[in-house]
Amino acid sequence: MRVLTGIQSSGTLHIGNYFGAIKQMIEYQDNSDLFIFIADYHALTSLKDPALLKQNTIDAAITYLSLGIDPQKSTMWVQSDVKEVLELYWILSAYTPMGLLERAHSYKDKLAKGISANHALFSYPVLMAADILLYDSQIVPVGKDQIQHVEITRDIAMKFNLQHGELFILPEFKTEENIQSVPGTDGAKMSKSYGNTIDIFTTEKELKKQIGKIVTESVSLEEPKEYESCNVYNICKLFLNEDEQKKLQERYKRGGEGHGHFKLYLGEIIREHFKEAREKREYYINHQDEVMEILDEGANKARKIAAEKIKQIRDAVGIYR
Ligand code: ADP
Ligand code: TRP
Repeated sequence: MRVLTGIQSSGTLHIGNYFGAIKQMIEYQDNSDLFIFIADYHALTSLKDPALLKQNTIDAAITYLSLGIDPQKSTMWVQSDVKEVLELYWILSAYTPMGLLERAHSYKDKLAKGISANHALFSYPVLMAADILLYDSQIVPVGKDQIQHVEITRDIAMKFNLQHGELFILPEFKTEENIQSVPGTDGAKMSKSYGNTIDIFTTEKELKKQIGKIVTESVSLEEPKEYESCNVYNICKLFLNEDEQKKLQERYKRGGEGHGHFKLYLGEIIREHFKEAREKREYYINHQDEVMEILDEGANKARKIAAEKIKQIRDAVGIYR
């Protein structure tokens, strides 16, 4: 089963992103043929700083390798390394009704926010359709905001197939329904736009600061404490198995420890959980030639599939050779 997903490097990742999306994405590589690419052409719709775009592209690769993408199991590449995607993008554009794109929420939202739209932003879903259809993807894991883009992909594929035969597989989106929203330091949903995050790869000092910000009720050290409503407990829980959760609950119920102690414990378990990822990240930052090799290999593999597919499509639509 081919599972494909694209990632836009949005800079700093927090533990909400990790438990809400990245962890599941990485788990796919154990039971499917995971294709994962860094969507730098897409990033170009909003990012206009060349040095930063390059940096973010490499950084995204390093981040995902550190968090567990295994190049032996998965295929990882940079979108712009497989030029066939742009040819398919153009061909699909000719099968995409304007109305379909005009109805796209993400485009409408940006317009509503006063962001002046360029053509790439408008046609963003067509490039996404090309990403998905070029590699015969069956499952596309995405966040909720991207569901409509996969639906648009299906619409375009259906329109094309109707005219030229079943050349495209109709992909299905997959969102993680049973993932709970990870609370931030203020108890609201953790989000970089709320400034309530605990970041995965931050410095020791910043991690302490972020954990220090977690809002707790004020009770004396001796008193027993509520764990269910405690933001510190609810973040700790994500990292703990049932036994460990029970032990922590006992510490809350027993009294004699303050929220400061539980915050220290949270710091320890976060450090421990991402220890290997941090070390890998450090390693890849210092061995970027290896990262480039992994991306080259991924691109070669993706390109082979893409070259085969685009040949069939060119032929189907009548590109003369
Ligand atoms: P942010 O809200 O920080 O901007 P994004 O919108 O970039 O995060 O989300 C990227 C992915 O991480 C999405 O799949 C989203 O569902 C997931 N995610 C983000 N925040 C949380 C959270 N607090 N709990 C669970 N999942 C989250
Ligand atoms: N638009 C997606 C996002 O912002 C990234 C993306 C680009 C993508 N092409 C894709 C995701 C193809 C899945 C499949 O998150």
